[in-house]
Amino acid sequence: MSLVNIKIEGQPYQVEAGLTILEAAKACGYEIPSLCAFNHGECNQGSCRVCLVEATGARGLVASCVYPVNEGMEIKISSPKATEARRRSVELMLSNHNKNCQQCDKNGQCELLHVAQVTGAREGVYEGVHSETHIDTLAPGLVRDTSKCILCGRCIARCSNAHGMGILGFENRGFATFVSPAENRSFVDSPCIQCGQCVNVCPTGALMEQSEIAKVDAAIKSGKHVIVQAAPAVRAAIGEEFDNPVGTPCTGKMIAALRRLGFEKVYDVNFGADLTIMEEGTELLNRLTNGGALPMITSCSPGWVNYAEYNYGDLLPHLSSCKSPHEMQGAVIKSYWAQEKGIDPKDIFVVSVMPCVAKKAEKDREQLVTNGNKDVDAVITTRELAKMIRRAGIIFNRLPDEDWDQDIMGDYTGAGVIFGVTGGVMEAALRTVYFKLTGKECEPIEIKAVRGHDAGIREASLDINGTTVNVAIASGMKSAKVLLDEIREGKSKYQFIEIMGCPGGCINGGGQPYVRSCFMPNEADDILDTYKEKRAQALYSEDERQVLRQSHKNPQVAELYEKYLGEPNSHKAHELLHTTYAAREGFNDVK
Ligand code: FES
Repeated sequence: MSLVNIKIEGQPYQVEAGLTILEAAKACGYEIPSLCAFNHGECNQGSCRVCLVEATGARGLVASCVYPVNEGMEIKISSPKATEARRRSVELMLSNHNKNCQQCDKNGQCELLHVAQVTGAREGVYEGVHSETHIDTLAPGLVRDTSKCILCGRCIARCSNAHGMGILGFENRGFATFVSPAENRSFVDSPCIQCGQCVNVCPTGALMEQSEIAKVDAAIKSGKHVIVQAAPAVRAAIGEEFDNPVGTPCTGKMIAALRRLGFEKVYDVNFGADLTIMEEGTELLNRLTNGGALPMITSCSPGWVNYAEYNYGDLLPHLSSCKSPHEMQGAVIKSYWAQEKGIDPKDIFVVSVMPCVAKKAEKDREQLVTNGNKDVDAVITTRELAKMIRRAGIIFNRLPDEDWDQDIMGDYTGAGVIFGVTGGVMEAALRTVYFKLTGKECEPIEIKAVRGHDAGIREASLDINGTTVNVAIASGMKSAKVLLDEIREGKSKYQFIEIMGCPGGCINGGGQPYVRSCFMPNEADDILDTYKEKRAQALYSEDERQVLRQSHKNPQVAELYEKYLGEPNSHKAHELLHTTYAAREGFNDVK
């Protein structure tokens, strides 16, 4: 690593050559305000001009997010000229911004307000016309409101980098510029998979999830039996909303909060995850021994299912027919659970707390209805749950640790917990497939070859009783596309593939707490590199703490088969727990 000598505010420093001034300043302990720059160059438009500084060797002020340091450079961050220029940049942005902040869902987490505060920008300095507003509320998962957009381009970069799809782009030119799917279409009229990664990176309220909090409030007031189920990744991140360090598991406090919010029963989706493994593992074994489309591909990520339906309709037979865990569990609640409790399924309202925005669209799929009842009635994200907790005045960090309701669906195993991490579904399935093929438990139980938190492709080859099972894992559609094209070309060497819509899996889902270093003064500077790993570790450690770590050992899942379903992949199990897919066409012109 070569170093260069620079001065910041007259103080000498040695920094890595090639860094931008913004990065170098951060390494030396200075936070230069920024908006369009994001995540180590993932988005580097250099367009917002919030990061302007003075630097020797440059003509005038420079955007520190794109300008590199060089030997002998002297940088002035807080000179009157630089300070004034940054303030003006923000004031100009505010002049064309919808400032109805008290009604904005980003309230409290808006980076535009943050930079307004740190630069001392005043409202109303520049008055004039506002650019035309475009609002899209048609998608079940996403809302786009251009009156709050600052044209930073982060969403465009994430959509393109995470998925290689480029659904979002700049439309028009100059003052008429806005961000949109092509031709200003709604998200529902584009091949958007509604993963919500764009929401995760939007610094303002221009891109948000569709809130279902009002729907949940109404259900609780209606007197229905409102049952809540929470996905594994939620417990690994909800604590961040209440200033706990990233990766703090908060399972017990989250359960306590859900009870205080008025839910009648609080269940873990891990029961549904164990059930998924029983069904999916059996399906894989059937395909391996009796024939069927191989490789089989997991189907619990709705973002991925959307992508497959839009882009790989010919490969849909490769998807496992299993519903996702919360949909399976919703179907069980409205059938077996309702029967055991003597409750009419029509009087039950199932709410899923998910790290995912695409789950909001998934729950509305016409294929996910059992006996005329939707399997799941509402989906709220981790962020929405945190809003409900704050609104109720619950002091999250002072809550006692409580346990899930134990009746009928209270048992779960460590295999279910790790569903929230990329590679987790694969590992959970292999633990059970190994047992089914050999009659022995897999040793060691952790299959570390499939672990990792990056968005690339991981692969492993396992010898199970003389049967070689080649597996691959991808998260984010850019990586998935490589594996899918291999299948399409007849070159795939795998029997089983796990695909997750979001890079890193559900722990980095589109509904998870925002990771913003500017709001996280207690986190280390590398938090944008390490948060996925820290959240994943929270789930792996919960798996390690479980006495039961294989789905086939879940006693209440076994009881469900014994009393109601028969056996995995039975006719009844298929009716309740499996689904179908359909190719969606008509968007080729905007791919
Ligand atoms: Fe540097 Fe936007 S953060 S120009």
